[in-house]
Amino acid sequence: MDHKKTYHSTTRDTSASSIIIEGPVLSSDLKKYRFHEQLTAFRPAQKQFEAIIGIANFTEGRIIIARTEDTIIGYVTYLHPDPLERWSKFNMEDLIELGAVEVIPDYRGAGVASGLLKVSMMDDYMENYIVISTEYYWHWDLEETRLSVWDYRKVMEKMMAAGGLLPAPTDDPEIISHPANCLMVRIGKNVPEESIKRFDKLRFLQRDQYRSMRGGL
Ligand SMILES: CC(C)(COP(=O)(O)OP(=O)(O)OC[C@H]1O[C@@H](n2cnc3c(N)ncnc32)[C@H](O)[C@@H]1OP(=O)(O)O)[C@@H](O)C(=O)NCCC(=O)NCCS
Repeated sequence: MDHKKTYHSTTRDTSASSIIIEGPVLSSDLKKYRFHEQLTAFRPAQKQFEAIIGIANFTEGRIIIARTEDTIIGYVTYLHPDPLERWSKFNMEDLIELGAVEVIPDYRGAGVASGLLKVSMMDDYMENYIVISTEYYWHWDLEETRLSVWDYRKVMEKMMAAGGLLPAPTDDPEIISHPANCLMVRIGKNVPEESIKRFDKLRFLQRDQYRSMRGGL
């Protein structure tokens, strides 16, 4: 796969200001902007900025940002799953993970994150990928939003649906450890049947383990 990336953009008016949602953005372009100090959902803002600049340089990596004229106020990342995670087990070239999505509190609830998801899927090349997102409630900003896990889960589902990602079953132990956690999936139109089958296997690794155990009896 050549992981071709084609830039798209849109604008969105929020009560705070008009913002641009754009990407995939090159690391050299990211460096032109300020990274808002409240983008701290995953790690300190400066560290997260360095991380997303790094991802933009990965062959398959994609960063879509929401920004005012000069300040990034939201972003979403896509990259191959972490080599230590279950999702990288079969080294699927056409599997990418929505790793993080974040919008600063002042701009939340205005469709910015949904806009990030929509712009992500404007690139036709995304039809070649299976896109996953693993949702664990302990990563959610329940404190700032004051939402219950179930209301937060609704926000997650609406936002992900804007990019065509839908909840899908899995036997991943961490995901099934709490009913609000979930796996979200989007299978692009050009993904071959063989990859879809491999991905189905990946979602149910324990079932296969059980089958082989029974086979051994
Ligand atoms: C999750 C997050 C990215 C959502 O960003 P956002 O820009 O507020 O999302 P959107 O405005 O696109 O909201 C999606 C839907 O949820 C609704 N929503 C958002 N916040 C809401 C709230 N506090 N209460 C009720 N509904 C809410 C929106 O109205 C929208 O619904 P609609 O499609 O019916 O219009 C943001 O809250 C955030 O950055 N949280 C911290 C990081 C995080 O939890 N990331 C997810 C884990 S990777």
